[in-house]
Amino acid sequence: MIPYGRQNIVDDDISAVLEVLRSDWLTQGPTVPKFEKIVADATKVQHAVAMNSATSVLHAACLALNLGPGDWLWTVPNTFVASANCGRLCGASVDFVDIDRRNYCMDPDALERKLKTAEKENRIPKILVPVHYAGQSANMQEISSLADRYGIKIIEDASHAVGAAYLDVPVGSCQYSDIAVFSFHPVKIITTAEGGIATTNDASLAAKMRRIRTNGITRAPEEMLNPDCEPWVYEQLEIGLNYRMTDVQAALGVSQMSRLDAFISRRRELAQQYDEMLSDLPLIRPWQSPQGQSAYHLYPILIDTERAAQDRSAVFKELRNSGIGVNVHYIPVHTQPYYQSFGFGFGDFPVSEWFYSREISLPMFYALTDEQQQLVVDRVRSAIEKCDVPNIDCWSDRRFRGLEEAVLVQRFRIVGPARFEASIISIDSIEFSTKIAMMANTPNRRIGRITRKKNPIFDAPIIRD
Ligand SMILES: Cc1ncc(COP(=O)(O)O)c(C=O)c1O
Repeated sequence: MIPYGRQNIVDDDISAVLEVLRSDWLTQGPTVPKFEKIVADATKVQHAVAMNSATSVLHAACLALNLGPGDWLWTVPNTFVASANCGRLCGASVDFVDIDRRNYCMDPDALERKLKTAEKENRIPKILVPVHYAGQSANMQEISSLADRYGIKIIEDASHAVGAAYLDVPVGSCQYSDIAVFSFHPVKIITTAEGGIATTNDASLAAKMRRIRTNGITRAPEEMLNPDCEPWVYEQLEIGLNYRMTDVQAALGVSQMSRLDAFISRRRELAQQYDEMLSDLPLIRPWQSPQGQSAYHLYPILIDTERAAQDRSAVFKELRNSGIGVNVHYIPVHTQPYYQSFGFGFGDFPVSEWFYSREISLPMFYALTDEQQQLVVDRVRSAIEKCDVPNIDCWSDRRFRGLEEAVLVQRFRIVGPARFEASIISIDSIEFSTKIAMMANTPNRRIGRITRKKNPIFDAPIIRD
């Protein structure tokens, strides 16, 4: 199986880790600060604070910005749950801003509209968490100017984007934010096994995050309330956790950072090759804004259901069955059961849901060879051809129609080679699919997938009364 993402570990990485394992310091030694300095220099920022995951960093960053009960944090639905959970972990409320159809990141227009409404309701968020999806920066210029207007702090979730650039500066330089966060999980651009880092130009935020990652404790005389004390004394100044990165992890990070440029340029080369190789297929390939240069953590394609009759699920399964370890990024966070318990649901953020219903992440990692990439493209092509069958979109309408209330009124359409529209009434799905097969005159043949969805936003043009 060719995975969608994979770390690249060479002998130098292993030697660097072994060196720390043989040293006096497995944690809280000299290697974490060394790694922090390397990341800070690479991203042209003043401070970097390493922790044991980006999830921890997001939480510590929110704590450092004093997020708490009664506050709001807004992020995008198209992200990993950690971008939202950091708000909930501080006791704040979380809401979402839909994404831009082109770059799949926070849409500044949607943000502006939402802020206007929130202003009237006295519900302006304290923190915004734009996410640089797939390694491409969000439109930070517009997002930060809106944030400035309303006095909102920004944490960039740059988990995908170490090595990316935006308006000629590295992502992570915090030109348009208070704090930026990178993840070093193995599928990311560089890895420390688990790990993450915060970057900031604010010395007091950096000091606060350093304390939070170590149980709120400081030993720095300049931070202590009683600096003239015995040499063993430390002070806890605030609440914190053990979010420390180990020196073992940092050693791997130092070694990996020496290959950051090579990692990024190979990913960009692979993306360009995918762009060319996939250009004749009915897919939406990832658009790149001229404002920046992506780090290409992911290469997301969208199955173009307007132009072709496949659906994402069928193509995905075909690819997995043929040895291509594709993945989907992301299930919109607001549709997770936990967030539905706050009243969110399908239909709330249509662009994120449109994106999710079509997205497949193709293999994208440094060591992916040209031959493997050709195989991926061949398999995508054949999956699309194989799945190019009439596609039935149908949905249930529980409106009372003079029949018993339990009876579902079903309408459907078939798109693709056979174009067919009809409306039938059915009680159970087996009877329903049989009827469709008969009406489409294709009995005993796979005529497509029957998708039964309560929510019409999944089903692009729908027959209505
Ligand atoms: C956008 C985003 N934010 C946050 C995280 C959390 O990163 P970590 O696994 O380092 O905690 C991830 C990881 O997948 C991510 O993709």
